[in-house]
Order: sequence, then C-alpha cells, then structure tokens
Amino acid sequence: MEKTGLSPSDPSSFSRPELVIIKDICLNLNVNFDNKILSGNVILSVEKVDETANELVLDSFKLDILSVSDSETDEKLDYKLSEHVADYGSKLTIELPEKAGNSYKIQINYKTSPEASGLQWISPKATAGKKHPFLFSQFQSSHARSVLPCQDTPTVKQTYSATISAPLELTVLMSAVCNSSKTLHGGKISHFVQSVPVPSYLIALAVGALESRKLGPRSHVWAEKEIIEECVYEFADTEHQLKTAEEICGPYVWGIYDLLVLPPSFPYGGMENPCLTFVTPTLLAGDRSLANVVAHEIAHSWTGNLVTNKNFEHFWLNEGFTVFVERKIKGRLESPKSQDFDAYTAVSELSEAIERMGKDSPLTKLVVDLKGVHPDEASSIVPYEKGQTFLRYLESVVGGPEKFEPFLRKYFDTFKYKSIVTSDFKSFFETYFSETASITSIDWDTWLFSPGMPPVIPEYDKSLATICDGLLKSFLEWNGEGEIPISKEDKEALTTNQMIYFLQKMLEAQGLSKEKLEALEKLFSLDSIKNAEIKFRWLRICLKARWEDKVQTAMAWINILGRMKFVRPLYRDLYEWELTREKAIANFTANRRNMMHVTAYTIAKDLHLEV
Ligand code: BES
Ligand code: ZN
Repeated sequence: MEKTGLSPSDPSSFSRPELVIIKDICLNLNVNFDNKILSGNVILSVEKVDETANELVLDSFKLDILSVSDSETDEKLDYKLSEHVADYGSKLTIELPEKAGNSYKIQINYKTSPEASGLQWISPKATAGKKHPFLFSQFQSSHARSVLPCQDTPTVKQTYSATISAPLELTVLMSAVCNSSKTLHGGKISHFVQSVPVPSYLIALAVGALESRKLGPRSHVWAEKEIIEECVYEFADTEHQLKTAEEICGPYVWGIYDLLVLPPSFPYGGMENPCLTFVTPTLLAGDRSLANVVAHEIAHSWTGNLVTNKNFEHFWLNEGFTVFVERKIKGRLESPKSQDFDAYTAVSELSEAIERMGKDSPLTKLVVDLKGVHPDEASSIVPYEKGQTFLRYLESVVGGPEKFEPFLRKYFDTFKYKSIVTSDFKSFFETYFSETASITSIDWDTWLFSPGMPPVIPEYDKSLATICDGLLKSFLEWNGEGEIPISKEDKEALTTNQMIYFLQKMLEAQGLSKEKLEALEKLFSLDSIKNAEIKFRWLRICLKARWEDKVQTAMAWINILGRMKFVRPLYRDLYEWELTREKAIANFTANRRNMMHVTAYTIAKDLHLEV
C-alpha cells in the first residue's frame, strides 16, 4: 500500500481521527436482495479535535457516493474520493462547512457494491430452509468501510443507531438493541440503538428467515427454524457462562446477550458483535463440547468490546486477553484441569503454526508491524495463544489468580470505553504491581517484540492430556495386525475434547497406514462423525496418509463450509499433495464466488494464486 495518506495511529486506515472524530453514526439503509445492494444514507455526528481542521477524512471501499451535505442546513458539501488502493479502498475527504462551534452532522447518500467485502449475500439454496435468501456482515478487521463511509479504525469509538428496511418475511438483526419493527409499504422497517460507544468493526447486520428461543434472562438464540432446537440444546449454558464472566471481569454493560447461528459459510467460529454474538453452525456438536467458543465471545464483552486495541498491531490485547478469560470461565464451570488441558493442547497448535510461518517471521511477534500488511493476511493463532501464555506467565509472576484477578478488574474498569496500545497495559501493570519485587524479572521486550515461541511455557496440569498421549503411543507402536490396541472402555472414557487432542497429536505423527486408520475409523465411527473439530482433524490425517477415497469427502465439506480455521488447512493439505493440487485449485476457482471475500482472499494466497 502507498505509505502516504495513512492514519498516524492506524496503518490500516486512511482516516484522521486526530483532526476530526466521529461521535455517533445514524444509518438508514434499504436491503435489496435482487441486486445485492444496500442503499440509503448515513448521518455522521462529528467533532473537531484539532481546531484548525477543515476536513473530515473517512475510509470507504467500493462505495458509490451519491452526495454529501450538512444535514442541519442541507447545504451540499464538496468531497473527493481518492483512487482505490487494493485491499484498503479509497480515502473519502469531505470539506467541512464554515460555522461556529466544533460539531457537525454530515449526511452521505450512497450505495454499497455487490462485491462489498464485509457482506455475504446467500442464495436460498445455501440456507437450511432453502426458501429465503440470507445476508450477514463480518466487519472485523477492516471491512466496515465496504458498507458505510466511516473512520474504519478501532482508535475511534462511537454510538450508533440504524433504521433498516427489508423484505417483510425476513428478520433484521444488528449488534444493538432492536426497539421497534413495523410493517410499512409492504416491507419491514426495524430500528436499532447501540448506546455504548463501539469501534466500526463491531457494527453488524444480519437478515434472514430467523426464529428465536429464550436461553436465559438476558439471552435468546436466533437461527433458521430447521436448526433452532439443536441450538437451544447446544447453548443452554450461556447464562452460566455470562454470570461466571461477570464474577471474573465485572458488570456486563451491554444489556442483552443474544446468539445468532449463521449459515455454514460464516468465515469464523464466532464474532463478538455486541448484544448479538455471531457463531458458525459447526459449533452444533450435539454434546455442548464446543461451547468454549461462546465463552470466548462472551469474554470479549470486556476484552475487546470494552477495552479495545487501538489498531490491529495490538490485536493480542483483544484476543490474548479473551482466550485467557475464556479459559478462566472454563476453569470455574468445569474444572481447573480442563482449563489447563485447553491451554496445554493449544501449545502444540501454536508451535505447529510458528513452524509453518517460520520461527523468525515478524508476524510471530506478539506486537506486529502492519505497515503494508493487511490485517486479514497477518491473522494467526499467535496473538491468541502467545498472548494468553504471556498473561498466564504474568499471573504466576505476581503470585497467582488471587493477585491477578483484582488487577484484571481494575484494568477493565480503568480502560473501559477506551482504545489502548500495549504500552498502556504495560505502564498500568507496572504501576499496579510496583510493590511486587518479582516483576523486575519480566523480560517485556522478548515477550512483546521477539519472534517465535513464547520464552516461557507455564507448568500446566497435563493429567487429561497424558491419558491421550498413552493411547496414541500404543496406537502408533501397533503394527496393524490383529486387534487395534484401544479398547471400548478406553474409547468411552475419552471426552470429546480429549478425542480432539488425540487426533491433533496423531496428525503430527509420521508413517500412518491406511489399514491402521481404517481400524480407527471403525472404532470411533469417524466416517459419520458430526463434531466438526473431530471431522477436520480426521480428514487431515487421512489426506496426510494419502487415503484417496477421502479426497472427495474433504472437497464436499469445504464446498459448503466457510470457517477458515477448517477450510484453509484442508486446502493447504490438498495443495501439498501432487495428486490433488490441480483439483484443489479447480475446486477453489469454481467456488470462490460463493465464498466471503476474506475466505476467498486468504485461500487464494494459500494456493499461491493471484488475488
Ligand atoms: N474476533 C474473533 C474473530 C475475528 C478475528 C474476526 C480476526 C476477524 C478478524 C473472534 O472472537 C474469534 O477469535 N473467534 C475464534 C474463536 C476461538 C478462538 C474460540 C474463531 O473464529 O475460531
Ligand atoms: Zn476472539
């Protein structure tokens, strides 16, 4: 990306919030499924930060800007849309009217492009009900600009409201409180308010044939009716998780906490949209075993949504803290052993990722440099797991959870509604623990700025993992003759999460024969497994063992799935095997127009194709 015109506080944004800053966004949009366009206007309430400023600088991506005016006087305003920069979009510069005072209301009339990178338009046949289309948004990290002109940087937090008109038979949801939904001119008009200031990446919209069921006093789950009962069962622990999170972090400020279960093309496991977490249907395992993703998104209500990274170079402040709190929730609701099991098993996933990225890769640092690197390209497990490892380490240095948890609550309370960088955290930590002598031993520079694995891996309780390691050892030593050395009792004693880890470790092993894998498939009925985490690892093992029959199964699965955590490694595996490389590329080329922009973009890179 050209280095000129970048925001000094965020290398991924053109906006200049240090001159003029948005305080409130008021959206007015019509949803048109026929031409895949949102059209209408946005009114931005802005304030001068620098008295001498005379321009408002915004981000936009493939937006069709129709006109700009001062919404209080209706005076037309001059604006300039700069040349499109690949991946980042166009800078929109608006001349502010001359007037007394520092605040303005700027109205922009515009339309989105059918290729808006932050939206996915789904045809009826790709939904569970097959009758109605579906639309959802995914703005993190920097796709809000493809749906509204805004300061698309988490440096800026604003309140928002929205009026959305959509087809009558569909339900409109947003990351806000819905305070009315009426029929008008044969369509449906819904009105939303988010009164807590949020960064642009937390604005979210979904439109579909949706139903809801109550999960708890402040929660409903939303989904298509075909899967709603499954959702009610899977997410029944939501209120427990919320209460536990409040015990750890402090009061929940967002009022409601709803869940929306999206069609399978949703690119992530979950997205912490305020008031309405978005989740993938691949969490529907039938046994609540993947509920940690909901605990994770709940934790974001503090880590990320209240205290926000100032830009995505400090993404670990969002995700590392969130994983840390997610595991604390699990520790309290299940057991400290399962909390440590998750942390321990993630170490091998982190090390696999760092191996693949290269031990010296600058993107394996906890704090990264995103100048010229798009956040979608930089995203990895590193900020999550290196970040949580750092916090576990800091916790142990200061004397354990009794000392660290009060600090954590103070941190949330001090920085709530703000956006911060790593040095803000560091100074706050050093001031809070200034009397604790042991903190002088912390090597901040290595933790924050050195590439590779974390300098210290805490002593986790390994008891749940040891059982699996034992079973794996006997399976690997087995010569494939006679009975498989895993009994029915062994099998029944394993939890779903242990099974996932067992397969994760097996994937790292060499020289597995198809015959041995067939025996394993039979024992665990792996050919009809519903759990997506298990299916994912099983298919990878089969591809690694060059089991040709499984290629078709893998291809069919990735063609309906958008969750990048599963789809990207499977594409990479298919690419690595010469027999399937061309097939993988052809399959991707045929399907990429059904994928969300971010999924297509990252897989194209993985497959070494032009983006
Ligand atoms: N905020 C992330 C999802 C995200 C990250 C979207 C970066 C866009 C850019 C979300 O909270 C998340 O981390 N989801 C994980 C859940 C897991 C770590 C429990 C996922 O999607 O797998
Ligand atoms: Zn997260």
